[in-house]
Amino acid sequence: MSETLPTPNPADSASGLSKGLTNYGDRGFSLFLRSAFIKGAGYTKHALERPVIGIASTGSAYNPCHGNMPQLLEAVKRGVMLAGGLPMDFPTISLHESFSAPTSMYLRNLMSMDTEEMIRAQPMDAVVLIGGCDKTVPAQLMGAASVGLPSIQLVTGSMLTGSHRSERVGACTDCRRYWGKFRAGEIDAAETAEVNNQLVASVGTCSVAGTASTMACIVEALGMGVTGSASPPAVTADRIRVAERTGTQIVEMAKAGRSIDKIMTAEAFENAMRVLLAMGGSTNAIVHLAAMAGRLGFKMDLKALDRMSDETPVLLDLKPSGDHYMEDFHHAGGMPTLLRELKPLLNLNALTVSGRTLGEEIEASGSGFKQDVVKTLAAPLQPVGGIAALHGNLAPGGAIIKRSAADKKLMEHEGRAVVFENAADLAARIDDPDLDVKADDILVLKHIGPKGAAMPEAGYLPIPRKLAAQGVKDMVRISDGRMSGTAFGTIVLHVTPEAAVGGPLAWVQNGDRIRLSVARREISLLVSDEELAHRAAAQPVTPPSAERGYRKLFLQSVTQADRGADFDFLIPPDAESPLPR
Ligand code: FES
Repeated sequence: MSETLPTPNPADSASGLSKGLTNYGDRGFSLFLRSAFIKGAGYTKHALERPVIGIASTGSAYNPCHGNMPQLLEAVKRGVMLAGGLPMDFPTISLHESFSAPTSMYLRNLMSMDTEEMIRAQPMDAVVLIGGCDKTVPAQLMGAASVGLPSIQLVTGSMLTGSHRSERVGACTDCRRYWGKFRAGEIDAAETAEVNNQLVASVGTCSVAGTASTMACIVEALGMGVTGSASPPAVTADRIRVAERTGTQIVEMAKAGRSIDKIMTAEAFENAMRVLLAMGGSTNAIVHLAAMAGRLGFKMDLKALDRMSDETPVLLDLKPSGDHYMEDFHHAGGMPTLLRELKPLLNLNALTVSGRTLGEEIEASGSGFKQDVVKTLAAPLQPVGGIAALHGNLAPGGAIIKRSAADKKLMEHEGRAVVFENAADLAARIDDPDLDVKADDILVLKHIGPKGAAMPEAGYLPIPRKLAAQGVKDMVRISDGRMSGTAFGTIVLHVTPEAAVGGPLAWVQNGDRIRLSVARREISLLVSDEELAHRAAAQPVTPPSAERGYRKLFLQSVTQADRGADFDFLIPPDAESPLPR
């Protein structure tokens, strides 16, 4: 069969496979060469004339949360072709929480740069981003936001729950609960090994309101995923149908030129924040939202977020704040059920990937049905939002606490600081029988902030073994790091500025008194300014540095938690519009 080569026509140079030609100094030759190579893969001219849909694939043997990637890719491609597009999948970095040393947060910005640059470098009219595990979705949206093409997010979906001795279990709230039981001597090594087989019952992302589930819901609230896409578990037919719909939708978006900046607006980010608060979602989402919004010119205002939290009740009954798992949320109707209930608090005119507004999408999803996972505004799970922002001399740039997962008795607390200088110090001493610690002390961990240690999820300090054995379940814990969204406790996180850059946290000493008042949004070190200045002068902090490589780039460029720990050179210089407004 004879085929005519696509000719390099300036009029169509901005679309399809003619986009972004490799520079050989001769456009005609560049296109000639590209056509030759792609035809080597067996494509016809007819196929190559269609809108080209890039699909960022993040399958990896190291990432069980993305274990359904082959099925999702097949379904997205089917959807793209049904709608008249040409699907072109390409790999990017994939990050799994448990397989990324020292922490996946160290690599989130690298994944966002990979995603951004591969979307820029390869010819495509629009892009489908497939991710799921915690850092992958923010990384993909950060990268895509910086490019600006029509983009749509597909999450891989949650894992199924398992059963241990007839008790329903799921990652990762129950992972922590059972590990806590083991540390406290309540279960033996054999039962610990037994439950380990059941906690992750299938491929897919963690089954509670951890970061992955939170980001999945945020994607839908932002309008960046097709309606109903957040909740179907990874291994279900519903998830595959969502993938096919995603493929169909992105072709329409490519034709309409519905670029990502038209969807990820201030209104959309406010909707995302509402959902984060109303679902008692992961505190990590605040860092990711700050980073994603920063790419589009916004700056997170923690005090405004705190005010929003006070007027946004927790409606979603999901672990760790509630009792259910993501698959229950799906059976309850998923995000349309939550959004329908939250309607009075949402910006209903925000545009979604479908070209309809969020309000129109909610209307189109029907009137709902009787269920018990999403509560009503009239009878919420908790009267105020899950997250509170704290300020005080210990955190001049702010800190946060997930009050929906905290012990109510500890939210107004003053205690003696028991200080760990870094994660290694914590590991070495936390279980020392001679550790001078009491149940009403406050555990402080320094140097796990963005520059100190790439902000690992180490802010969930374990209860010292000798106190755990006495039945102590919660203590006030403070750090400049993060914690998993699946964790539970009275835990102050993201203390800004961090210890590694000389924030006040660096100068806390054993025996200092610290006051936490969630009611007053206060986190205070009860030490005089003079004494703190004296300590700072006596032991000046030298921020960490590196000789070469990505670590050097990271340490030179990573911002504090309030800017999402993004790299400074990836944030537009004028990104100062406050969010929420
Ligand atoms: Fe991937 Fe929890 S480890 S979502």
